[in-house]
Amino acid sequence: MISWFRSLQYSGYKGTRPYILDFPAWFVNTNIGKPVLTHEAVELGRFLFYDKSLSSDSSVACANCHQQKHAFTDPQRFSTGVKGRVGRRNSMHLVNLLSDQRFFWDGRAASLEEQVLMPIQDYLEMDLPLDELLTRLAKHPIYPALFERAYNSKQITRKLVADALAQFLKSIISHSAPADYLRAVDVGKLKLHEIPPPLQKHWPVYQKSLGILNCGPCHTLADIHGQNMFEDTGLEAVSKDAGYYVVTGNEMDRGKFKVPSVRNWSVTAPYMHDGRFSTIELVIDHYRRGMIRKPNISPLYTHGGSQIITETLTDAQVASMIAVLELYTDEKMLTDSKYSNPF
Ligand code: HEC
Ligand code: HEC
Repeated sequence: MISWFRSLQYSGYKGTRPYILDFPAWFVNTNIGKPVLTHEAVELGRFLFYDKSLSSDSSVACANCHQQKHAFTDPQRFSTGVKGRVGRRNSMHLVNLLSDQRFFWDGRAASLEEQVLMPIQDYLEMDLPLDELLTRLAKHPIYPALFERAYNSKQITRKLVADALAQFLKSIISHSAPADYLRAVDVGKLKLHEIPPPLQKHWPVYQKSLGILNCGPCHTLADIHGQNMFEDTGLEAVSKDAGYYVVTGNEMDRGKFKVPSVRNWSVTAPYMHDGRFSTIELVIDHYRRGMIRKPNISPLYTHGGSQIITETLTDAQVASMIAVLELYTDEKMLTDSKYSNPF
């Protein structure tokens, strides 16, 4: 018997226990939905996420390209899949995904359940046909019991694999960054003296920066997470990567990409869909000086006028903006053992 399995104490289907997301009542995130998760499926999804046998040559797990200490992204500009194959886009961080409606930089997956089966079959990533995966899992010493425990089913199906992986991803919640406490103070859910004393000193800089952060409309302030928006940041006059155009077929969407969360940015470099910027300074420099004006550039960059707001930021404002962005690193989530490798 494999030792990690022994600790699960499996003995037949006994019904499932609801998995309650444990974010605090003061957590200001209007985007968090109420997913129906079970302990058994989340745990199974976690095993699958860290299991290299989901790839053709058993060398690559989801976690290769989505590493917890990097908020579940990859520090490499382009990740390496099976047989040394190199991908075409930068990996994405996987945090607070529960209410997102579209997945991938170009939004081509319409649900998490649809998305999670795609890297398994992707030639550049895990390159394993799903039928082969189901055969492997059915023959595995442990997985049939884990699927039965989670779903009361003797048969392992694509739908169940997708559900378990998606449930694990939905359980990954970031709510304990210093900025979460400050945000709760800002909207009156907590008093300043109620937050951890070491964080209280950040209040003045947090408050001062709110007015100058022109990032909110997209990377929404509640979560700094723009889960369902696609925008062009003016990186290229004619985008080499079609982006959201593949979903809508609308020319105006060429070069638009999913607005990523900038939560935990201090560990998610490099940045943008093609990982072109290695530091946050380079990203902000782009917003200040590098944006190419194109017909599809969002009015959100301008607050209604024609001047792109970020072009007017002073160096001091940028420094203060970076100081605030620093407060979005959630050490608790980055090290929480419930998201770590269970093997
Ligand atoms: C070889 C590297 C690699 C592997 C292995 C990999 N991914 Fe990814 N993942 C990426 C890249 C790169 C993207 C962005 C791709 C794109 O936009 O076309 C991505 C995107 C995602 C997204 C979209 C996030 C969002 O905000 O839209 C999810 C979810 C995800 N991966 C989950 C998984 C799961 C689950 C597995 C394992 C079954 C997995 N990935 C395996 C590299 C990888
Ligand atoms: C109109 C919407 C919009 C506004 C306003 C905006 N962004 Fe972005 N941001 C995006 C999009 C879209 C991307 C992804 C672009 C790409 O990959 O090509 C992005 C990417 C980023 C990234 C890289 C994240 C990653 O994981 O790769 C950072 C950091 C970032 N923005 C910070 C900011 C800051 C700081 C501001 C305010 C000065 C800001 N953004 C304003 C839409 C916006």
